[in-house]
Amino acid sequence: MHEFKYRNNQLYCENVLVGRLAKTFGTPLYIYSYHTLIDHYLKLKSAFSKINPLICYSVKANSNLSILKALIAKGAGLDIVSGGELFRAQKAACPAGKIVYASVGKTDKEIFAAISKGILFFNVESLAELKNINRIARGLNKITRVAIRINPDVEAKTHKYISTGKLTNKFGIDLDSAYKILLLRTKFRNLNICGLHIHIGSQITQSAPFVEAIKKVSNFIQRLKVKGIVLEYLNIGGGLGIIYDHEAPQTAQLYADEIIPLLKKTGLKIIMEPGRFIVGNAGILVVKVLYIKHTPKKKFIIVDGGMNDLIRPALYCAYHNIWPLVKNAKVEKADVVGPICESGDFLAKERLMAKVKEGDYLAVMSTGAYGFSMSSNYNSRPRAAEVMVAKDKVLVIRKRESCEDLIRNEII
Ligand code: LLP
Repeated sequence: MHEFKYRNNQLYCENVLVGRLAKTFGTPLYIYSYHTLIDHYLKLKSAFSKINPLICYSVKANSNLSILKALIAKGAGLDIVSGGELFRAQKAACPAGKIVYASVGKTDKEIFAAISKGILFFNVESLAELKNINRIARGLNKITRVAIRINPDVEAKTHKYISTGKLTNKFGIDLDSAYKILLLRTKFRNLNICGLHIHIGSQITQSAPFVEAIKKVSNFIQRLKVKGIVLEYLNIGGGLGIIYDHEAPQTAQLYADEIIPLLKKTGLKIIMEPGRFIVGNAGILVVKVLYIKHTPKKKFIIVDGGMNDLIRPALYCAYHNIWPLVKNAKVEKADVVGPICESGDFLAKERLMAKVKEGDYLAVMSTGAYGFSMSSNYNSRPRAAEVMVAKDKVLVIRKRESCEDLIRNEII
């Protein structure tokens, strides 16, 4: 469900004409629907109400402060992966006790900051990192909570770049090594190893890989109990897939129905880290058609947004629907490409889509997650503006960057 719909053949975000936003704020422009965002968060929350997990929204999916604030106001915590995201979490006034921190490469400075702020716990990805956090906590004279990120060696059945739960991936610690670490847990005097974490990948559309991973971890938890090792938290990560094209992902309710019995059995407090599920279909990227170009082989629709604004098609060959702002029954096959000097700069290839002309706008759908947050200044292009719509209300939540912003930190 999302709040981007046609009324009288014109595309609206909630009660606001998308065309009006494009004209007012210029393009490329990210537009978010507040009610879609909150609806997705609440869907997950209610599907899991029986076990009342702490939902730590994954900041990397879309880290705009207004998005974070909106979710925090509804009770969400945050999943962070850097000092920068910790900074954002604080700016959005997220209670430290609702922040979990993953990443295979946390620096001393980042660890120091997170311990000092008193985050809920670190998701630790290697023995070396565990030792380092222990050392830094000792220096601060603190005991800090950590969860061991388990690599369950499960095939997530998703794009290989975003699959994280196989032993060939850099993430987490294998079960045997984790077991050894947990047996020696009292050696880490400044750590309270209080939980386990798994995150097997992203855009996972079937529940089977999740179930397999949770089963493995839950057996592991039993094995630990036998040794008298009792934990407090199980963080089951994010990864829930959404509809981009014709996927039929498991709904939040189906996902919950499958895994709640397994989770209950662990007796642990559950944490989840969804990103895409919450924000993916809550955002669109609006671009303007600059030129139509015919070559002997193809038709190109050249738009003013490119791979610096949305890198998913170039990086993963990801599919995003492209809708006209005004419905049009005539269709044509074309490549939708950006202005960047690379042939990988496309938003759609050989796409059968509504016929457009120069000056028209197009909406690149389902771009709320990993859209703006992965954008860059490549080709010295200022990054897009972001606006949030709630019913009739429109708020600019990030100004368009200027050329001055591009060179702000440069020194001649
Ligand atoms: N937790 C951890 C530890 C993660 O690494 C991630 C995502 C999440 C949670 C949130 O996953 P989600 O619920 O959004 O699937 N740039 C890629 C996706 C990369 C995901 C990275 N980790 C894309 O555009 O598809």
